[in-house]
Amino acid sequence: MQESQLEIDPVPAHVAIIMDGNGRWAQQRKRPRLFGHKAGVDSVRAVVETAREIGVKHLTLYAFSTENWHRPGFEVKGLMSLLKTYLQVELDNMKTNEIRLDCFGQKHRLPEDVHQVLDQVMAETIDCMGMRLNLALSYGSRTEIIAGVQEIARKCSAGVLDVRDIDEQLLSDNLYSADQPDPDLLIRTGGEHRLSNFLLWQLSYAEIYFTDTMWPDFRKSQFLEAIKAFGNRQRRFGRTGGQLESK
Ligand code: FPP
Repeated sequence: MQESQLEIDPVPAHVAIIMDGNGRWAQQRKRPRLFGHKAGVDSVRAVVETAREIGVKHLTLYAFSTENWHRPGFEVKGLMSLLKTYLQVELDNMKTNEIRLDCFGQKHRLPEDVHQVLDQVMAETIDCMGMRLNLALSYGSRTEIIAGVQEIARKCSAGVLDVRDIDEQLLSDNLYSADQPDPDLLIRTGGEHRLSNFLLWQLSYAEIYFTDTMWPDFRKSQFLEAIKAFGNRQRRFGRTGGQLESK
């Protein structure tokens, strides 16, 4: 794949997406919810391809939350099956396009066969340097932060760390996203305006883009529109607009 011929400036280094609206999209068409998830996989393909094309370096997709385990059994099973197929089908494509796959979340809670395929794809793409694709699977941000804090506390009580060593960087280093920058842009589709326990620490300075478009309708042009909207935002990181202009 060629890197950007499209004129987009700046391109956010890290884009995170809450892919919402599959169920409602299906219901509007009087079809079962899984029909919406299936169409959602095609949006995943389109967005991954476009992100790679324009030069996004990190893309994090919220594919399954810890709360999603409470959905009806057959919907969970269907989602797991779509995920497994997606990984199997996309492996060659990821290697060709230099996309490295990672998982943010409780991998051990995934069905054994999905866990295995995930490990295989992660291992086979580990040297790919074009873009990192992080799938948030059985992911919850509060659980992630607590696990990070527990790890730090263990090191403090073992004498490996001192309480005074604890700073923002240290906590960041103990999250799933340890070796990756924080997202610059969060996109949420499906018309809801909330974070739903997604990357609460990492999104501190992210620009947020909400759209009513349901995830199955969110394809290349909708993604590019969100990226362009990001380009029109002024990120001040607590400074004044005047301070930024005089830099
Ligand atoms: C939210 O829509 C979406 C999900 C819980 C699952 C997202 C999954 C996919 C896009 C497909 C599989 C993923 C990959 C990476 C292959 P919802 O069901 O909550 O929609 P609703 O709010 O309209 O009910």
